Amino acid sequence: MPMCGIVGYAGTRPALGIVLDGLRRLEYRGYDSAGVAIVDGAELVACKRAGKLTNLEKAVADLAAGGADLAAGAVDRAGGGDRAGGGDRAGGGLATGTTGIGHTRWATHGGPTDRNAHPHRSADGRVAVIHNGIIENFAALQAELEAAGVELASETDSECAAHLLAAELAALEEGAPDQAIAVSGVPSSGAALAEAMRRVCRRLAGAFTLLAVDTAAPGVVVGARRDSPLVVGRGEGENYLASDVAAFIAHTREAVELGQDQVVTITADRIQVTDFAGNPTTGREYHVDWDASAAEKGGYDYFMLKEIAEQPRAVADTLRGRFTEAGGIALDEVRLTGQDLRNVDKIFIVACGTAYHSGLVAKYAIEHWTRIPCEVELASEFRYRDPVLDRSTLVVAISQSGETMDTLMALRHAREQKARVLAICNTNGSTIPRESDAVLYTHAGPEIAVASTKAFLTQLVACYLVGLHLAQVRGVKFADEVAAVVAQLEAMPGKVAAVLETMEPVRALGRELAAARSVLFVGRHVGYPVALEGALKLKELAYMHAEGFAAGELKHGPIALIEEGTPVVCVVPSPAGRGVLHDKLGSNLQEVRARGARTIVIAEEGDDAVVPYADHLVRVPATPTLLAPLLTAVPLQVLACEIAVARGHDVDQPRNLAKSVTVE
Ligand code: F6R
Repeated sequence: MPMCGIVGYAGTRPALGIVLDGLRRLEYRGYDSAGVAIVDGAELVACKRAGKLTNLEKAVADLAAGGADLAAGAVDRAGGGDRAGGGDRAGGGLATGTTGIGHTRWATHGGPTDRNAHPHRSADGRVAVIHNGIIENFAALQAELEAAGVELASETDSECAAHLLAAELAALEEGAPDQAIAVSGVPSSGAALAEAMRRVCRRLAGAFTLLAVDTAAPGVVVGARRDSPLVVGRGEGENYLASDVAAFIAHTREAVELGQDQVVTITADRIQVTDFAGNPTTGREYHVDWDASAAEKGGYDYFMLKEIAEQPRAVADTLRGRFTEAGGIALDEVRLTGQDLRNVDKIFIVACGTAYHSGLVAKYAIEHWTRIPCEVELASEFRYRDPVLDRSTLVVAISQSGETMDTLMALRHAREQKARVLAICNTNGSTIPRESDAVLYTHAGPEIAVASTKAFLTQLVACYLVGLHLAQVRGVKFADEVAAVVAQLEAMPGKVAAVLETMEPVRALGRELAAARSVLFVGRHVGYPVALEGALKLKELAYMHAEGFAAGELKHGPIALIEEGTPVVCVVPSPAGRGVLHDKLGSNLQEVRARGARTIVIAEEGDDAVVPYADHLVRVPATPTLLAPLLTAVPLQVLACEIAVARGHDVDQPRNLAKSVTVE
């Protein structure tokens, strides 16, 4: 299944708590069902539940407390055969096993039911598998399995991997002693499970991360990845596998990045990596530079509130270390030479959702500073449009997660056409930076809430840095001009903090607007993408109709939407920038107000011209025009969050969404 959270543990401590804790930290990746499988000796106990993780936790607690009767209700026995294993020891095995896997799901293939939740068991019950991604040839594989007499227990594409693994294991065992040894009490090395996994992976089409456990190899978890995330956590006397480091950061900060088409075997004291053909290989070892507290709510009701509050630091961290003493830009991670950058004659920015909005802002800055044409395109459109690209095109791929499939496919397409790709990314070790020519990391820290906030601000910062770097390298800006913008950027964390301190009236307004039917957002120039972003936040969090418009477009149609009392949020440009822009937006404000709109005006301190047209006025500190989105986006995040909370929604996990969108 796509966009899911995956955890694996092999060690000496009881696995259940560790796996559940990991799932809790990954729940943002998908949250419509969850499950675990724990291996205890030759026993494998699986438990899975539709709904949020709390449903699974309750089922597991009942099981551990209740023994056989409860076990029958909570343990997966779907699809014929006793796939539960464990019988009346089911609860005990769950609590004591030291090897386990867990999954939190975002459904596409088969609804979010108990049966479709992961893990999936092989018909003989010995293997349990969890999957993230889509197995594109699953129909053919299912037909093959059914022809061989296997009864499928779910409607998922994932289940076939469990049956295929069991079949490969059976075939291997005919000639191999490895599994037989395990049955006689000596733990298996897991060699057969790893080999079976490689054989299965070679048959699968599509994108997948798979983790498997086998009753014949207690103490072993085998994982595999293609186009879907999987990282290894290296502990002391224990090792981890997970979709991202947040799952194991409370236990270890040492991680191993896996490459494409690799299979990994973990035990308590061993991490072994091969390619799909079985050739040994190694992953890149790295140290995670944030700790467990960064992935906790830290006293806030929601991660989103914490992440909004963290924005001054996220902006400061993303700026840190990027400047020379002379006030220029030094981007060490950008492994493109000065000559590469001087050759660039066209820039494409590709991204999705909020990251796309940061790209739209970047266009204004990059074209203004560098005079290089810059197009911004939704990654999903770019990929299938046949864009004109060549060696002198720079493609900038922006992604918080580094795993968004649409963006990944766009960058692969660009590289096939010989364009150079620079990734702007927040996740070390993720696929998008790994497949790019160069990377500029944002340092937002982990973003857990599904709606992007601090990642957006840091993406803006990274885009400004890229624009200035290009201008400097190409000599289109004098050193003192670059230094002046650098000084402005360095003032931004303080200004973001100042905006956050004045948000109480915005929260009160949010509560008032909770009953509105629809909210419109308008802006001009860099305020236009901010309006789009404000509308996106409101849609995804409050499930309200919201739209962002270029203010100048209103009169070409959308103004017909305005009724008496319709809230219209106006992002007003600085009067100190291009005065004409400010004045034009002032006219647009009057136009909507004359038609009954209730205007919520985001304007710079000291801009008194807008006062007569503002039903609600939100002030932000004076800032150069191009950098203003770092401030004007913030009240819109707060507004959307507050409206959503007032409407009774879980702002961290909005319906139908997942944090990391690993399907096209
Ligand atoms: C909206 C949001 C999404 C993401 C988009 C791209 O709040 O978070 O629109 O911005 O799915 O995700 P990344 O940046 O991980 O590629």
